[in-house]
Amino acid sequence: MSENIEVLYSENRKFPPPEDFAAQSKVPKDIYEKATANPLECWANEARKLHWHKPFTEILDWSNPPFARWFHDGEINVTYNCLDRHVIAGNGDRVAFYWEGEPGDTRTVTYKELLSEVSQASNLLISLGVTEGDRVAIYMPAIPEAVVAMLACARIGAIHSVVFGGFSAESLKSRINDAEAKLVITADGTYRKGKVLPLKPIVDEAVAQTPSVEKVLVVRRAGNDIDWAAGRDLWWHEEISSMDTTHTAKGFPAEQPLYILYTSGTTGTPKGILHSTGGYLTQVSTTHRTVFDLKPDSDIFWCTADIGWVTGHSYVVYGPLANGTTQLLYEGTPDTPHQGRWWELIEKYGVTILYTAPTAIRTFMKLGRQIPAQFDLSSLRLLGSVGEPINPEAWLWYREVIGAGKTPIVDTWWQTETGAIMVSPIPALTDAKPGSAQIPFPGISIDVVDESGSTVGKNQGGLLVAREPWPSMLRGIWGNPERFKETYWSMFGDKYFAGDGAKFDEDGDIWLLGRVDDVLNVSGHRLSTTEIESSLVAHDFVAEAAVVGASDETTGQAVVAFVILKSRHEQKISEAESVHELKAHVAKQIGSLARPRDIHLVDELPKTRSGKIMRRLLRDVAEKRAIGDTTTLADADAIKRIDEKLN
Ligand code: WT7
Repeated sequence: MSENIEVLYSENRKFPPPEDFAAQSKVPKDIYEKATANPLECWANEARKLHWHKPFTEILDWSNPPFARWFHDGEINVTYNCLDRHVIAGNGDRVAFYWEGEPGDTRTVTYKELLSEVSQASNLLISLGVTEGDRVAIYMPAIPEAVVAMLACARIGAIHSVVFGGFSAESLKSRINDAEAKLVITADGTYRKGKVLPLKPIVDEAVAQTPSVEKVLVVRRAGNDIDWAAGRDLWWHEEISSMDTTHTAKGFPAEQPLYILYTSGTTGTPKGILHSTGGYLTQVSTTHRTVFDLKPDSDIFWCTADIGWVTGHSYVVYGPLANGTTQLLYEGTPDTPHQGRWWELIEKYGVTILYTAPTAIRTFMKLGRQIPAQFDLSSLRLLGSVGEPINPEAWLWYREVIGAGKTPIVDTWWQTETGAIMVSPIPALTDAKPGSAQIPFPGISIDVVDESGSTVGKNQGGLLVAREPWPSMLRGIWGNPERFKETYWSMFGDKYFAGDGAKFDEDGDIWLLGRVDDVLNVSGHRLSTTEIESSLVAHDFVAEAAVVGASDETTGQAVVAFVILKSRHEQKISEAESVHELKAHVAKQIGSLARPRDIHLVDELPKTRSGKIMRRLLRDVAEKRAIGDTTTLADADAIKRIDEKLN
């Protein structure tokens, strides 16, 4: 920690908005008062800033909870709002994306060009027989075509399911099958850490076991050799070139599904979180404009999230484009070809707003301030954080080293399920407090309650809930309404249970305290303990496995597994070889983001008398601290023996 940061930290102070920042902001000063007085009317006013093919007359239908309908008798086209509207308003020559590939190749795409490409892609989808309500899987790198593919689906009323390019063939397959996607859009490969990372072979492996898939559209990005299934595979560039560059967008009912995005839950199978259009677009555009204090004609916005995560959906694609924003899109990793690549990009493109994850910030902290110091970061005027709690030390470093000691920081809490930001400061209005996400967004009703549903006192930990429906809320879990009710609504009946622990401090600011369920957060990415355990026990060596999230300096949490090997395998290969093999197995089965940091081979696991594994105690072992309460263990000494073996 630098001396400077220590001083700031020890003062435990708040950071009021810089005067010039507050003075130039277009965010209305009475935004909280108005929203408190009439939240629904405020949301309706925000919705009316969008273009409706047919205006809505009803704001919210909550007659059949937890299934909300927002603006349901209105008709809207999401892509029309993201593209056509800006071109019609005379902003067609505004840059939508400055794109930079990892090798340094670049493209600039204006709103007019994006509209023309999306129109061609829409016509292509139609010619391939994709119609309203059909599912399209997208497995792509961060290239403009990924955005084009999403917007083309939205334009014709098809439902996209983007799968992060780091997921394995197995994970891709199960997501395609759950959604019964008809088409897969992918690329030959992408660049990662200076090398070509092939994607098409993963799709080939997945699609061998997905009966619903009729065609695979392939964007040529990396030029790597790939296998080709004649009749099934089509080159994007060949197909699109003959398509008309115009397509008339029609309005769809506001509750038309927009996308499915799979996220890990507390069971082994990922949940297909379902979002719809009118309410979603309203909240992503409003929060993007307000939380990021947006000036569409001068800001260069850079959200570093991949489009495979909800942050990429809401704050690379739908929110920023609905607001006519100019953005930077970068394909590669932060450390290629050198550790200052991000800062170089900020200097090169004059990025004004940076939205990233605490894990990235902590990685840069470790590398040292001399790296960003080599670049001119003076264009930055606002910094954002998302994905996990940001520790005050990282917050202060971010502000001081990246934000020249003056840019406001917004720590934004939300989830795949919430679709858009729910808790965050508003940078022009809020005195920022390092480490706290602070205040519910105007019109959002958040509470911290105990297990009986009563609000807890200040500085007491509790469970974060949403008391009222919100426009961008999930509309369900694809194909599983019962799981939707059970997961989020059965705990309190009338309140949405987020799965996060939280507290209000003495000022009433909200602090997020991490997940309270069996969900891990590794580098801001959600993983399920059960899913990793299932993967481990599926391996021939493994008799039993328990997975916990142990705190990690860089990634927030890390995957730590405790594994009992089957006795017949114990002698055959060394412990080190078994561990290596099992780590690779999990990466292959789920994706490299799930690869355990540590695998401990043990002879037993701590269990209750009813046979439930007590992961809480294993977490104590993994984090090398005193073992907690063991009174419910069947064999209280089991955990002691594990601890002795490992620590
Ligand atoms: C979980 C949601 C929201 C997009 C990225 C992750 C954690 C997210 C914060 C924050 C503390 C946060 C929560 C949440 N989380 N943002 N600002 N402070 N925790 O989306 O994969 O759906 O994960 O991420 O635990 O429940 P996700």
